[in-house]
Amino acid sequence: TEADSQNNELVPHKGFLLIKGTHDPDDVDQISNLEIRDSDVFVVTYPKSGTIWMQQILLLLEAKGDVTAINKFSNYSNADLVPWIEVIGTREAFITAPSPRFRVTHLLHQFMPLALRQKKGKVIYIARNPKDVLVSYFYFHKLATMLETPKDFDDFFEKFMRGDVFGGRWFDHIKTWYSHKDDMNILFITYEEMIQNLQSAVERISLFLGKELTDEQLASVVEHSTFKNMRKIPQANYEQVSDDLLNHHVGTFMRKGTIGDWKNHFTVAQNERFDEVFQKEMKDFPLSFIWDI
Ligand code: A3P
Repeated sequence: TEADSQNNELVPHKGFLLIKGTHDPDDVDQISNLEIRDSDVFVVTYPKSGTIWMQQILLLLEAKGDVTAINKFSNYSNADLVPWIEVIGTREAFITAPSPRFRVTHLLHQFMPLALRQKKGKVIYIARNPKDVLVSYFYFHKLATMLETPKDFDDFFEKFMRGDVFGGRWFDHIKTWYSHKDDMNILFITYEEMIQNLQSAVERISLFLGKELTDEQLASVVEHSTFKNMRKIPQANYEQVSDDLLNHHVGTFMRKGTIGDWKNHFTVAQNERFDEVFQKEMKDFPLSFIWDI
């Protein structure tokens, strides 16, 4: 909760935590008034659920699988090409950008453009099993300088369970977004289904966006959005951003890209506790998660 917040870099704002220096509360409040075009696409994720992956897929779909069109931009990160709507200074560019405008966000539904609720634009929500999210987020906290480096895994586990991280409680994020699924043009997709069958996931996304690509073009989108290939490109590893933002010596952004890494990190007791909270929070939730392969 807000009162429990130990991390002085996170600023409570209307039931959500923002990162000081990265987000500005007044800016965030302006998002709800943005005008939306039918061609706008917002990718919504709880952090570490495959945001960069969907940025890559959207860019490739737009380029009809032509990877040279993307490699031209190797001086930019995927986040420069498909920016966060909540980050300071990105809103102005959104207003004047040519269509189609692709944006990502970790925000809760309540902050988003109201026009989305009139079924303007499209939203893709990616959900990832929260045990793997927790582990991925632990490593990201070590990598990202704007987030406090965790004391150790146990300490971070507690923080995540309390929601004392950017993104808040994972359970609240997915449940509130899901509860608004009928207000918007929204596609729910899971990280795990993308891992297990990227081809069919890309086809679903393409269909949802109303894109018409040949089989060959779709195959190219798939090929250039695999973990193996994305790991090799600077855009997906934020190699362009300076050590002020990412401690590049600590690791790479494209870390492991698997299902079930939590098993290498959770203790038996932590796993039992997590399961208990999960059952309680998610018992009426209709989507299921894959924990393991
Ligand atoms: P891990 O830390 O578990 O490896 P986000 O972009 O939302 O921050 O999510 C980052 C997570 O997605 C990282 O997870 C990263 O490796 C994983 N990821 C990114 N691209 C991926 C891909 N093409 N295939 C599988 N996982 C991918």
